[in-house]
Parts: sequence; C-alpha cells; structure tokens
Amino acid sequence: MMSSGVVLAVGFQLSGGDSQTDALIWYSWLGGVIIGTMLGANSVLEEHCKAGPRNVVITGSTRGLGKALAREFLLSGDHVVIASRSPDSVLQTINELEENIQEGLSVAKKKQRETLLQAKVVGTSCDVCKPEDVKKLVNFAVGELGSIDIWINNAGTNKGFRPLVNFSDEDITQIVSTNLVGSLLCTREAMDVMQYQEKGGHVFNMDGAGSGGSSTPLTAVYGSTKCGLRQFQASLMKESRRSKVGVHTASPGMVLTDLLLR
Ligand SMILES: *[C@@H]1O[C@H](CO)[C@@H](O)[C@H](O)[C@H]1NC(C)=O
Repeated sequence: MMSSGVVLAVGFQLSGGDSQTDALIWYSWLGGVIIGTMLGANSVLEEHCKAGPRNVVITGSTRGLGKALAREFLLSGDHVVIASRSPDSVLQTINELEENIQEGLSVAKKKQRETLLQAKVVGTSCDVCKPEDVKKLVNFAVGELGSIDIWINNAGTNKGFRPLVNFSDEDITQIVSTNLVGSLLCTREAMDVMQYQEKGGHVFNMDGAGSGGSSTPLTAVYGSTKCGLRQFQASLMKESRRSKVGVHTASPGMVLTDLLLR
C-alpha cells in the first residue's frame, strides 16, 4: 500500500466557501504525505495547515474515497474521525488505518516521523439520515478531539443503474435520505459547533454526477440529490458570508479523472 508509489487516488478540486477560498485544489498521493497543497490566494485553510494537526470528520469513510481520504489526512499527521452505519466496519477500518500509520512509521525519516506520531484515528457508527445519530457523531468528535476543523460529507449511495421504475421504495428513500437529508443534517450540526469555535471550521459536500443540473439517465434519483446539494451549497454561501464557517464543494471526479487519463 504505502510503497505503491502510484500517483492516483484523491485529487480534489474544491470550490465555494468565502471569497478568499475561491478555487482551491488539493492534491494528495497514495503513499505520499501531502494533503492540503492548495492553490489559491490567502487561503483560510492554510492557517489550519500551519497550526498543526487538523481535526477531521469524514462520513461514509469505511470504504472507497472516504477511506482513502481518511488515510491521506492521517499520513499528514491529522486527527480523523471515521463514521459509517456499521460498527464492525468502523472498527475494522480503524485497525486498518492504524496499520497504515505503523507502516508509515517504519519507513519514515525524522521529520515525517514526528508528523506521523501526531496522527490519531477514532470512529463511531452513525447513520447520517438519523438526527440523533448525527448529534452523537458530533459529540463523539468533540469529546475525542476537542474541536472539529474540517467536516466532510462523503456518505452517499446510488443503488445501481437502472430505469426509475426499477427503483424500489426503499432504494429511493435511502438514496435521498443518505445523500440529501444526511448532508443537510450533518452540515447543520457541524456548522452549529464550528460557529462557536475560535478558529471556525470548514464543511465539504461531495459533488457527483448531476451536480450542475445535467441529466443522469439510469441514476436519476442520485442525480437529483446531487443537484439539490449544489443549490444548498449556493444558498449557504450567501447565508454564511460573514461566518467563520466555510462551506465548500469537493469534486473528486475532475482531478481524479484527469490523473487517470494522463
Ligand atoms: C426492470 O424491471 C422489469 C420488470 O420487473 C424487468 O423485466 C427488467 O429486467 C428490469 N430492468 C432492469 C434494468 O433492472
């Protein structure tokens, strides 16, 4: 894993937030240690980077992109809260990520070692569709880490590709409640904590197919939630102009595709 040396995985184009964070790009490398290399003037996030480990909550982080992101933050010496619906998956992921940190330590040079020794991973189960679960996750994160600097709404599902009539009641309910309701609840709770923190904080919502209003045949329900999230993001940006909390959209697809096609 650590030795793959492959430049891939998680590249991010971030947009939104306040006027200072217009266009940020984060690159991170599997096997590398960089997350938070940002282009963009006067980035507010830079302060967080310089101030040492960041406290990061990532929903839906026991697999895929969420897990890869968690790993990258950890390898940068950050503190990460893992969350997903299954308590077993959470435990398993924590173990796996701790192993990654140990692997990193075993080959790290002095400076990198100091960074890695700061890394900390904890986690709890959370169904983002349930308000009480989201509150519990927030309390867990604050209890374990003291504050939350970055919250990433990564939990999402599309339930496969087929015509609308082939999606069951459960499918539709689950897609909308995870992708849309879950992101709204999490964003609200995260903002509610961050607004009282001295340093504020940053909330990221994941872009996906359909975000810009384009059609997403065979995954129409998913597309509608992603488009809804864009609208939500745009509204929040206006609402929270003078807020200490930045709201952003993370687009994993763009840079990722770019890297893969190169
Ligand atoms: C959709 O449902 C119909 C009727 O149940 C079935 O015949 C068809 O194969 C399904 N199509 C897909 C793509 O799942």
